[in-house]
Amino acid sequence: MADIKNRESVLILDFGSQYGQLIARRVRELNVFCQVVRHDLTAKRIKELNPKGIILSGGPASVYETNAPKCDPEIFKLGIPILGICYGMQISCKSLGTEVKRAPSREFGRASCKTNNSELLFKNIPSEITVWMSHGDQVDQHSNDFVSIASTDTCPMAATKHKILPVYGLQFHPEVSHTPQGTIILKNFLNEICGCKGLWEIGSFLEETVKNLHATVGNHRVICGLSGGVDSSVVAALLVKAIGKQVACIFVDNGLLRQGESDMVRKTFRDNFQADLHVVDASDRFLTALCGVTDPQQKRKIIGHVFIDVFKDEAKNIKDAKFLAQGTLYPDVIESGGSPDGPAAVIKTHHNVGGLPAELGFELIEPLKDLFKDEVRRLGLQLGLPENTVWRHPFPGPGLAVRCLGDIDKAKLDILRQADFIVLDELKKSGWYKKTSQAFAVLLPVQSVGVMGDGRTYENVVAVRAVETDDFMTADWSHLPYELLATISTRIINQVKGVNRVVYDISSKPPATIEWE
Ligand code: XMP
Repeated sequence: MADIKNRESVLILDFGSQYGQLIARRVRELNVFCQVVRHDLTAKRIKELNPKGIILSGGPASVYETNAPKCDPEIFKLGIPILGICYGMQISCKSLGTEVKRAPSREFGRASCKTNNSELLFKNIPSEITVWMSHGDQVDQHSNDFVSIASTDTCPMAATKHKILPVYGLQFHPEVSHTPQGTIILKNFLNEICGCKGLWEIGSFLEETVKNLHATVGNHRVICGLSGGVDSSVVAALLVKAIGKQVACIFVDNGLLRQGESDMVRKTFRDNFQADLHVVDASDRFLTALCGVTDPQQKRKIIGHVFIDVFKDEAKNIKDAKFLAQGTLYPDVIESGGSPDGPAAVIKTHHNVGGLPAELGFELIEPLKDLFKDEVRRLGLQLGLPENTVWRHPFPGPGLAVRCLGDIDKAKLDILRQADFIVLDELKKSGWYKKTSQAFAVLLPVQSVGVMGDGRTYENVVAVRAVETDDFMTADWSHLPYELLATISTRIINQVKGVNRVVYDISSKPPATIEWE
C-alpha cells in the first residue's frame, strides 16, 4: 500500500460492492486520493493511515445475515467523517444502535428523491433529484440518533445524518451515472464535510513518483520489459523521465507482433525519448519452437518459456541491474488481494497475470500500482507518449499466434498482419477505434472457393472481431456500421493476396471468448 499518511486521502471500506472501484474512481476524479481497503480494517490501522474521510461501500449482504460483513465499531469514534452508501449506511446505523428493517418491497432502479438542501451534503443540489436505488433493507425512520435528510415515497430515510457524530448515510448510489447529481454529493462530502482541498492530480503524482523512484533506485540500473502496450509504455516513459539512461528497456520481437509495432516502439522510445532501448529480434527462435503446434494452450506455454529465455539472455547484457519494473495497475492489486490492508482476492480467470518469474533475481518496482487505467492514460499523455500508444487496445502476450488458427508459419502471419492492419486502419479513420475495446483480424485454417476475374480461387478466410467491454470478462460484439464492414471487407480482399472471403464475428462473451484460441 502506498504511503498515504502524509497525503490528503480517503479510505473506501469494501463490503463487496460491485461498485467499490467505481466509488474510488469518482473520488479520484474529484482530485482526492483514495484507496480501497478491507471492510474490517481496524480503527487503530485507520488512525495510522490518517484519512480525511471514510466511505463504507455497498454490498450484497443483509446486515441480519449471520456472516454479514462488519466494520470495527470503534471507527465511529475516531472523529473522522464517514459516509455509508447503501449497505454501508445500514451497517453504520446498526452499529450505532438504530434498527434496520426489511423494506416493504425491494427497491431497484430510479427513484425520485426529496433532499434537504440546507444540509452540507446536499449543497447546490435541487430539492428533488433522481437517484439509483438497489436495496431490500432500509433504516428505521424512528431513530433516536439519526435524522432523515432525504426521502423517497417508499424510503423515508433515503439519506441520514447522525445527531452528534460526523456520520452520514445514503441509501442510494451516488457513484453511478443513473444518479445524475451523485458526483456533487460526493464532492460535498469530500470538500464540505471532510475538508479535503482536492489537490491530487496526475501531475502531482508524477512529481511525487519521480522523487520516490530516485530514492528507491539510487545509482542502480533498472530493467523494463516493453511490450508496446499502454501500461509498459507508461512505466518505461516514467522511468526514462525519472532516471534517464539508468533504465534499460527490453523489447522482444517474437515475430507475432502486429504490422509496424516494432518500428513504432523504436521511434517512440529510441528517437523521441532517447531511451536505452534493446530490441531483440527473436522471431526465428519463437517460430521454430512453434512449428507444427496447433493446440492454443501449448502455443501459449511455448511462447511463455521462449520469452523468459530470451529476456534472461538480454538482461545479462545489462550490467549492474538491480530492479525490474512492471506495469501492475491498481485494479490488479485490489483483485489479487496483494495488499495487506486491501480487500480479499476476487477470483478471476484471466490471462494477463504471471509475467516474469522471481527467479530472475531482481527487485520489483511497480510505479503504477496505485493508478486506474484512465489515470495511466492521462499520465502517458502528460509524459509525452503519442495518442496512438496511449489509446491502444490490449493485445495478448502470445500475439498473433492465437489469432492465426492452427499451425503457424511466417507466410500465414504476414497475411494476417496485412488484414489486421486494414481492420485497425479503417476503424481509426471512421472514428470507431475509440468506440471499441478490442478489434482485430483472425486468419482461419480453412480455404473457400471464390471467383476473381475469370478464374476460380481457393483461398483463405479472414474473420473480423470487434468487441465492446468494460472489464474484458464479458463483452458484446460491436455493432459496426455495414458501410464500414463493407470497406474493410473490400480492402482486405483487394489488397491482401491469399484472402478471398471476410466474415464478421457476431458472438458475445460468454459464451464465446474475445480471442478465437
Ligand atoms: P478472452 O479471449 O479470454 O480474452 O475473452 C480476454 C482478454 O485477455 C486477452 N488474452 C490474453 N492476454 N495472454 C495475454 O496476455 C494470453 O494468453 C491471452 N489470451 C487472451 C484477450 O486479448 C482479451 O483482452
